[in-house]
Amino acid sequence: MTAHDYGRRRSSGAIPPTPHDPGPHPSRTLFRRGLLGAAAAVAAGALLLTGMGGQAGAAGTSLKSLAEAKGIYFGTALTQSNLSNSTLTAVASSQFDMVTPGNEMKWDTTEPSNGSYNFGPGDAIVSYAKANGMRVRGHNLVWHSQLPSWVSSLPTSQVQGAMEAHITTEATHYKGQVYSWDVVNEPFNEDGTLRADAFYNAMGSGYIADALRTAHAADPAAKLYLNDYNIEGENAKSDAMYNLVASLKSQGVPIDGVGLESHFILGQVPSTMKANMQRFTALGVNVAVTELDDRIALPASTANLAQQASDYAAVINDCLGVSGCVGVSQWGVGDADSWIPGTFSGYGAATMYDNNYQPKPAYNASVTALGGSTATATPTPSASASASPTTGPTGAAGSCKVADTVNAWNTGLTENITITNTGSSTVNGWSLAFTLAPGQTVTSAWNATVSPSSGTVTATNLSYNGTLAPGGTTQIGFQATHTGNAAAPASFALNGVSCSAG
Ligand code: XIL
Repeated sequence: MTAHDYGRRRSSGAIPPTPHDPGPHPSRTLFRRGLLGAAAAVAAGALLLTGMGGQAGAAGTSLKSLAEAKGIYFGTALTQSNLSNSTLTAVASSQFDMVTPGNEMKWDTTEPSNGSYNFGPGDAIVSYAKANGMRVRGHNLVWHSQLPSWVSSLPTSQVQGAMEAHITTEATHYKGQVYSWDVVNEPFNEDGTLRADAFYNAMGSGYIADALRTAHAADPAAKLYLNDYNIEGENAKSDAMYNLVASLKSQGVPIDGVGLESHFILGQVPSTMKANMQRFTALGVNVAVTELDDRIALPASTANLAQQASDYAAVINDCLGVSGCVGVSQWGVGDADSWIPGTFSGYGAATMYDNNYQPKPAYNASVTALGGSTATATPTPSASASASPTTGPTGAAGSCKVADTVNAWNTGLTENITITNTGSSTVNGWSLAFTLAPGQTVTSAWNATVSPSSGTVTATNLSYNGTLAPGGTTQIGFQATHTGNAAAPASFALNGVSCSAG
């Protein structure tokens, strides 16, 4: 396996008959009920700030609140180092309700030498998740990669014991604290044969059932998953996963779900993804999109970002269309956190947030797919932008101006902002980006959604003030705490175009 296999498009080959969706999976109703019960508490802790006017729908503008209303979760991967980036965590805690540790629960971290365990990094992720009302997907217990060399150097007669001890110790440590475990990660080769890793070589194909049974014994409440890439559409590899899950179910082996990693290449979300998910749920397991990203050959064009937006919408719609698809997780919060540039040379821009945690068109498309109102104008492909007079500012300088006034007291301030469209085209949906002075934290906002609460933030229109005719103005504002610096932002940009003052 090379890194470049991730997301590789596969020819469909010979595909066995696909069972059709038998209707709602019984566990889906229960899952939805339980999740919705928790939704209010999670929403109460959200950093995403909605208009004080209490407009209908305003509270539903985060990915997680929209997802929860649809009965699914929306997650992200986080690494321990991510936790010290306050701009990142503000987005993470306001938008996502599920966390997958990026590396911290893998074998090389948790048991770097035989019998000596290190759960500190994983515990840090769990604490962050708990503190922010998020659940955790445990990732992962058994994987050929990020496996310390002591495991692969063991005599084959000792591998089963080492695997069972590892699973038992880790799953017991996190018992009751994880929603699910990726028990075995990436077991298959591209042709659907099992990967000849240390576990297969020692135990044959039975290692998978053994791993699942061992995990279930340690944490009976955790949902147990097999997770792999290039199994999103119907192909030889997903057929093999399908056959494996069918066989495990028929033997009564505890298995609750299949994780579709979903490391896509721009424009290559398989058209068979929904049907593929349906055939898995027909076996009586859940499915989840576990590691979504959509990589672009750099530099990314406006047309690329628009394609990425439709790719994200397609994935979310596929999940929403399948009873038993429990959630979607992106692999990393923003482009700055993504593994893609370091793994796939020349590729990047693979997530919903840019390097400065500004939402990209894929974020807006995700909000829309989840039933929310489009937060900002979705940039159109550059080829058609000039032919679309009702689209927002397309780059002409000086097409907006912003006046702001700050009223400060010793620890707080209010700021009123007037935005004027000085261009000749109507703006349909806007976002105003600006950077708060150090120490300022937004606590409430009116006539806009403001997120995150500190650093570089974006104020986004609500449903009733998204349209700005040429010469039109709108007023928004927010309240913030400060630690001595009550300065106004130095500059503002509307839909990516810098505004003049006034
Ligand atoms: C990646 C991490 O993001 C990187 O930091 C690490 O160097 C390699 O692994 N499939 C998986 C994830 O299941 O665990 C991988 O995460 C990405 C591919």
